[in-house]
Amino acid sequence: MQLVFATNNRHKLFEARNKLLNTNIDIISLNELNFDEEIEETSDTIEGNAKIKADCINNRFSCDVFADDTGLEVECLHGAPGVYSSRYAGEHVSYEDNVTKLLYDMQGAANRKARFRTCIHLILNNQHFVFEGIVNGKIIAEAHGKGGFGYDPIFVPEGFSQTFAELPLDVKNSISHRGKALDLLATFLSTR
Ligand code: IMP
Repeated sequence: MQLVFATNNRHKLFEARNKLLNTNIDIISLNELNFDEEIEETSDTIEGNAKIKADCINNRFSCDVFADDTGLEVECLHGAPGVYSSRYAGEHVSYEDNVTKLLYDMQGAANRKARFRTCIHLILNNQHFVFEGIVNGKIIAEAHGKGGFGYDPIFVPEGFSQTFAELPLDVKNSISHRGKALDLLATFLSTR
C-alpha cells in the first residue's frame, strides 16, 4: 500500500520509513509527487497545521496521506514557542537563532521543564485520524552536542543526562515525540 508523507525533510522520511519497515506500506515523499510548493501553516495549533498539510495533499492528489507538525512547549513560557517553534526568533531564521532567543527568554528561570509534542494527521480512505507523541524533559542553560537539529542541543529528555544532540540518533528516535507518534501510526496501520 502506498502512503504519502507530506514532507520533503530527508530526516523525517528516513525515520518514518524505518518505523514502517515491518509493514506493507510504501512511503512516498512530496518530491516523488513532483510537489514543491510551500504549504502555508496558518493554524495556531500543532494539530491544525498537521491537518492543513494532510488536507492540501489529499485534495490535490486524492491520495492517502499523513503529515506531522511539532512544537517545543516550555512550561515557564506558558507553552511557547509551541506552534511557532520554527519561527520563534522571526521568519526565515536559523535553528541557532531560535535556540539563542529561547535561552535568553529563559535566563534565570528555575523551572526549566519542557516537552516536545508531535501530531500526525492521517487521511486514509477519506477518514481522518490523529496520533500524538510527547517526550518530557528540560532545557539546559547552554548548547551541548553536534547531532540532531532544531532545539536538540538544549533539550535533555527525562531519564537521560545528555541532550538530544549528544545522544545517538537511534536512541533519540526510539524515545522522541516524533518516534512515539510514528510508532502509534505504524501500530494503527498494521491493523488495517
Ligand atoms: P516541524 O513541525 O517538525 O517542522 O517542527 C517545527 C520546529 O520544531 C522545527 O523547526 C524545530 O525547530 C523544532 N523541532 C521539531 N522536531 C524537533 C526535534 O526532534 N528536535 C529539535 N527540534 C525540533
